[in-house]
Amino acid sequence: MKWVISKSAILLAIFILPVFAGADDDCLNCHRQKTPGAVSQWQGSAHAGAEISCMDCHGSDHNKIETGQAFVDAKTCGKCHQTALEQHEASRHGLGLHSGWGCTRNLPDRNPGECRFCHEEGSTRPLSTVECSRFLTQSSEMRELGCNRCHQVENSCASCHTNHLTDLKIVQNPNVCAKCHMGPDHPQWEMWETSLHGTLYTTAGETIGPDCQRCHMPQGTHNVSTGLTMTPGGAPYSGADRKSQRSAMLKICTDCHAESFARRELERGDGIREQSAALVNEAETIVWDLADRGLLSPMPDNRPPHPLRGKVLVTDGQMLYEGTSHIERLLFKMKKYDFAKTVKGAYHQNPAYTHWYGNAELKMDLIDIKAEAERLKQQKKKNFNASPQASTAEDTIEQQLKVLKKKFERGVLSNEQYSAKKKRLLDQSLQIK
Ligand code: HEC
Ligand code: HEC
Ligand code: HEC
Ligand code: HEC
Ligand code: HEC
Ligand code: HEC
Ligand code: HEC
Ligand code: HEC
Ligand code: HEC
Repeated sequence: MKWVISKSAILLAIFILPVFAGADDDCLNCHRQKTPGAVSQWQGSAHAGAEISCMDCHGSDHNKIETGQAFVDAKTCGKCHQTALEQHEASRHGLGLHSGWGCTRNLPDRNPGECRFCHEEGSTRPLSTVECSRFLTQSSEMRELGCNRCHQVENSCASCHTNHLTDLKIVQNPNVCAKCHMGPDHPQWEMWETSLHGTLYTTAGETIGPDCQRCHMPQGTHNVSTGLTMTPGGAPYSGADRKSQRSAMLKICTDCHAESFARRELERGDGIREQSAALVNEAETIVWDLADRGLLSPMPDNRPPHPLRGKVLVTDGQMLYEGTSHIERLLFKMKKYDFAKTVKGAYHQNPAYTHWYGNAELKMDLIDIKAEAERLKQQKKKNFNASPQASTAEDTIEQQLKVLKKKFERGVLSNEQYSAKKKRLLDQSLQIK
């Protein structure tokens, strides 16, 4: 028997080793000099133990490697870790990049499960806006370091696992989520860390204080969309989906809490979501009203076009933070930062975010927006008094009719409301004459 084995070992050595092992040894020998850290990290990993070599991930074309054309992406890891890849792709992490690009229906190899993130079941009407205009206005350098370093989570398992370390302790630590889940528009890291759950995690350990993974990757699943009832922008999912996702989240809470207690908590969060959306809606209405009256400064006609919509006012998920009027910038902060802090703070048991950084700011934003709207109206009046021959949006019936027509055209007024208001204005004008 021994003879048979050693004979086949010799055959293997003759036919295989010179081609494959030789090249792998090349990588190792040279990189022991050039990048000793990367080699020793790999040597300490589960991959070295299982004889997964440099070339298994990187391939052997060094030209491609050095010009960034042989990126080790999620699909490469997925060849050997299929379940992890499938779960990752079925979650919103699996479309991190595409959420900046647009509808995925015509791209090859997309997971049909992902349609639900942007479309209601059985509908082609989009639920959330994509092909992010903010992305389109960035330089390519800013896109890479200022958007994709986070959004590449779609095609980079290494954005959590690191390139060469396989120790699960690294990814089981909530710090690994912090890089991307922080900052003014999604401060989950800050709000969790300073909540009672975060404090208990630090002081009493993970079996008592739940961390991000416990609630968002239950049983080690890579599907982080489990248990969520709204889009990242805060638009609630439809009824049936919302219900089943909520049950999935409650199942996690009930490891430690009474279901009735946890349900009350999350339903209060839903309430705060609705109340906050109403405040944002009020502010948005003011801005649109100013636009109807031609009072934004500058108006969309007099500034660089929006990259997706052109020379019109945009206040939805495609809203820009550059080249707009001052009042739109106030609305951007209110919507993108303060609304997010309030709602996300409520779902993460952080009273300071929910109230002081969130709700209080939302209400003060509304004051600022009303004051700025008033200033713009006064400004227009002043200009009118200075040169009465200039027409103003406020003062001629003709202009007021135009404003009404704009409101009707964008669906704010019903047919009946429009007719009634128009009639009132015309009657008024007859009286004046
Ligand atoms: C003769 C030496 C040598 C050999 C053999 C070699 N490399 Fe390299 N490799 C380098 C050098 C030098 C760099 C560039 C380092 C730098 O810019 O400081 C590099 C860079 C890299 C990079 C980083 C590329 C980037 O810019 O992101 C990877 C990955 C890599 N090599 C993998 C491999 C693999 C896999 C093999 C075996 C197929 C291999 N190397 C064989 C010398 C070598
Ligand atoms: C399990 C897959 C895997 C294996 C095995 C692997 N790498 Fe990597 N490596 C990656 C990933 C992922 C990246 C980051 C993405 C990219 O650059 O393509 C990376 C990046 C690198 C880089 C550039 C990053 C930097 O910090 O400079 C070097 C150099 C490198 N690898 C060398 C090696 C060498 C040498 C080996 C073998 C000893 C090896 N890798 C084995 C996955 C792997
Ligand atoms: C050629 C196959 C192959 C590729 C490609 C590969 N792995 Fe692995 N991986 C393995 C094997 C085999 C093991 C060790 C056996 C095991 O624990 O499953 C392993 C182990 C691991 C572990 C440790 C698992 C544990 O339970 O401790 C992690 C984490 C991991 N790989 C992540 C990655 C990532 C991330 C990539 C891509 C950058 C990758 N792997 C690419 C085959 C592969
Ligand atoms: C990241 C968000 C996103 C994802 C994921 C997505 N869509 Fe879309 N979809 C949109 C948006 C936005 C539009 C409207 C703009 C356009 O046509 O691209 C749209 C439009 C469509 C339309 C055309 C509707 C019409 O009336 O013209 C169809 C059909 C469609 N999507 C199907 C799908 C299918 C099937 C999937 C899953 C593979 C999918 N979408 C995934 C955002 C998305
Ligand atoms: C610090 C990491 C990070 C950076 C930098 C970043 N994002 Fe994001 N982005 C995220 C995270 C995390 C989410 C999910 C937020 C949530 O669910 O609370 C997200 C969500 C989104 C969404 C979908 C949510 C929505 O508003 O409807 C879009 C689109 C988006 N980002 C575009 C961009 C663009 C464009 C850039 C650069 C100009 C950028 N992001 C920079 C981490 C980042
Ligand atoms: C959001 C961060 C994150 C991303 C992105 C991520 N992982 Fe993981 N991964 C984790 C965590 C956390 C665990 C540990 C789960 C546990 O405790 O059981 C893990 C565990 C693993 C394991 C070992 C357990 C298992 O499921 O087999 C493998 C293998 C693995 N990941 C591969 C991948 C691959 C492949 C990808 C890309 C498709 C990927 N991971 C993307 C966080 C991540
Ligand atoms: C490299 C950056 C990055 C890291 C690290 C990261 N995420 Fe994310 N995460 C994102 C981005 C980007 C999105 C939003 C993607 C989108 O909306 O298209 C997101 C979305 C999410 C969502 C919302 C899913 C949904 O359906 O709306 C959850 C929950 C989440 N991540 C949990 C985690 C957890 C837990 C960790 C740590 C184990 C983690 N993430 C690590 C970038 C990251
Ligand atoms: C005690 C459980 C719990 C912990 C711990 C937790 N989350 Fe959440 N998370 C939730 C709940 C509940 C929601 C809202 C669910 C919904 O949409 O109804 C949520 C929502 C999210 C979302 C979607 C947008 C949002 O904020 O509403 C992201 C992203 C997210 N969490 C990331 C994280 C990260 C990162 C950590 C760790 C720093 C973390 N979460 C810790 C329970 C938790
Ligand atoms: C691993 C166990 C664990 C899980 C899972 C868990 N919690 Fe907790 N939670 C705790 C502990 C321990 C406390 C402190 C309780 C006390 O004061 O005795 C706490 C406190 C709270 C508090 C009170 C916060 C305060 O500042 O007083 C709320 C509300 C809460 N949890 C909601 C939730 C919700 C909602 C979920 C599920 C999304 C959840 N918890 C999941 C362990 C957990």
